[in-house]
Amino acid sequence: MTLQLGDPAPDFRADTTQGLVDFHSWKRDAWAILFSHPKDFTPVCTTELGYVAGLVDEFVARNVRVIGLSVDPVIDHELWAADIAETQGHVVNFPMIGDPDCVVAGLYDMIHPNADDTQTVRSVFVIDPVNRIRLILTYPASTGRNFEEILRVIDSLQLTDAHQVATPVNWKVGDDVIILPTIDAEQAAQLFPGGWDEQRPYLRVVPQPQ
Ligand code: BEZ
Repeated sequence: MTLQLGDPAPDFRADTTQGLVDFHSWKRDAWAILFSHPKDFTPVCTTELGYVAGLVDEFVARNVRVIGLSVDPVIDHELWAADIAETQGHVVNFPMIGDPDCVVAGLYDMIHPNADDTQTVRSVFVIDPVNRIRLILTYPASTGRNFEEILRVIDSLQLTDAHQVATPVNWKVGDDVIILPTIDAEQAAQLFPGGWDEQRPYLRVVPQPQ
């Protein structure tokens, strides 16, 4: 069954580079990024994993836990980690799932047979504190992901949950935001006592709440 936004994130138990992980227990009530890569000892993944390791402070600031996956076994991940540290300058500091039987890959639809029927594609799932899937991205194997964009989406989702706002095109932290269309004028007046710029009844712009 294909997973969609808003679906419960499937729970699983998996062997990782940090021991056995029960996903929901490990994640607790934090946000999570679960991301897959096609294969160990491959160049694009090497750069991605090193970069993500270097973002640790950004993840802590947003209460995000990170977990990676490939269909190679944990022993290979451990051997590869030395190459990542040496070439990328960051030690991988999050668990990497070894999924040789494709159990987790199957649960999360990470194998796309038209791309490759034996390897995971480059999937990203952002999962919220109540274990709902809030973002699904699928990249081709040859394209490294933009983790600044993934952080940007998490910032946007967290703002939406906390303040009933959406974020416009190319929004970045500090830019103006948009009152959710589901918020009527009475609710908006309570939530945004400073008022808003009503460019259209459906386009109400406010400074980003702190
Ligand atoms: C990689 O993971 O580095 C990769 C995978 C497939 C094609 C090219 C690069």
